[in-house]
Amino acid sequence: MLLNLTILGGDGIGPEVTEQAVAVLQTIADLFGHQLQLQHKPIGGAALTAANDPLPPDTVEACLSSGAVLLGAVGNPAFDQNPSHLRPEAGLLRLRRELGAYANLRPAVFFPALEDCSPLRGEVVRSTDIMIVRELLGGAYFGQPRSIAGAAGARVAINTMRYGEDEIERIARVAFDLAMKRKKKVLSVDKANVLECSRLWREVVTRMGKEYPEVKLGHQYVDSAAMLLVQRPTDFDVVLTENMFGDILSDQAGGVVGSLGLLASASIGGKVGLYEPVHGSAPDIAGKGIANPLGAILSAAMLLRHSFALEREAVAIESAISAVLARGARTADLAGKAHKAISTAEMGRRVVQAVKERL
Ligand code: NAD
Ligand code: IPM
Ligand code: MN
Repeated sequence: MLLNLTILGGDGIGPEVTEQAVAVLQTIADLFGHQLQLQHKPIGGAALTAANDPLPPDTVEACLSSGAVLLGAVGNPAFDQNPSHLRPEAGLLRLRRELGAYANLRPAVFFPALEDCSPLRGEVVRSTDIMIVRELLGGAYFGQPRSIAGAAGARVAINTMRYGEDEIERIARVAFDLAMKRKKKVLSVDKANVLECSRLWREVVTRMGKEYPEVKLGHQYVDSAAMLLVQRPTDFDVVLTENMFGDILSDQAGGVVGSLGLLASASIGGKVGLYEPVHGSAPDIAGKGIANPLGAILSAAMLLRHSFALEREAVAIESAISAVLARGARTADLAGKAHKAISTAEMGRRVVQAVKERL
């Protein structure tokens, strides 16, 4: 099969972790007889520096004409004072919209080898396997109007949280369909005690749930869900939620399973799928070669699964990661006191090696 991908390294640790994910994809392609065809394009701060545009037209065209997109991360404190549309993050948000990627799947799976990495006790976190289904193109991220206006000292900022029934329905369907292939449990997370958006959300999700009588549907306010995620993470299966709640809860889930650097994501539902780790550009560790590349590598596995239906290849990557972790491979975020930390590149090499060994 032809795997024609656009690679968007982006900023900070983005290019560092993406390089390792590409190396793993190349290994998979060689072993399974696929042809990997790559186009590298700029996004985020790197694109702002080069072209004063966080998402140049050429990058969009490349993404739209490829089979899938693999992204590292965007964000650079040097641009934090820029107007909204000239921030690195604006490039990513526009890309999600251009691709029509409304469904953001963020799995948080606990690796048995990492029991000492979670701040939670083993008995609490063991066997955690959560799939956060985050709506990605609506809510406060995209709602209009939005502005900061007024005289200095008396300015007013406005954001609009907005959801249409159609947007809620399509993301709910993704969550229910996924639940049917898992433990048949959906927890819909909202703030229906305060927000109109959430009241409509709950009503539409409840209605949709009737189409899935086998799925046990629950509703939880987001504040309470945040507490439960730490207290009883194993109670969760599919979590269905709106854009901003999903952003927050997914980083928290990263903490629960041991490191944000482990989490992968798939943004699907549109013309072309976008795959990226959940973490950001991590300016505090960028350029040091110590970032955990496993979130990016697991995103490559999701890319094979969701954009190319290559389940065996995806599982080969996931099993290789379990194997290297079981053998004690740890980047600095996971090392703690008991292990010696290895570099980003060394972790990538070990995954490549494990993929080769297990076939
Ligand atoms: P961050 O996710 O970049 O980092 C949070 C903390 O986690 C940092 O201490 C960092 O060192 C650590 N960390 C993150 N990924 C890691 C990895 N792979 N290995 C080891 N440690 C890792 O979040 P932040 O610091 O709040 O944001 C930094 C920038 O990234 C901001 O500009 C933000 O907008 C951007 N951001 C981008 C994305 C994305 O591109 N999808 C996601 C989140 C944040
Ligand atoms: C994420 C990030 C992005 C988001 C930012 C960088 C726009 O935090 O992918 O989780 O909020 O969606
Ligand atoms: Mn985030």
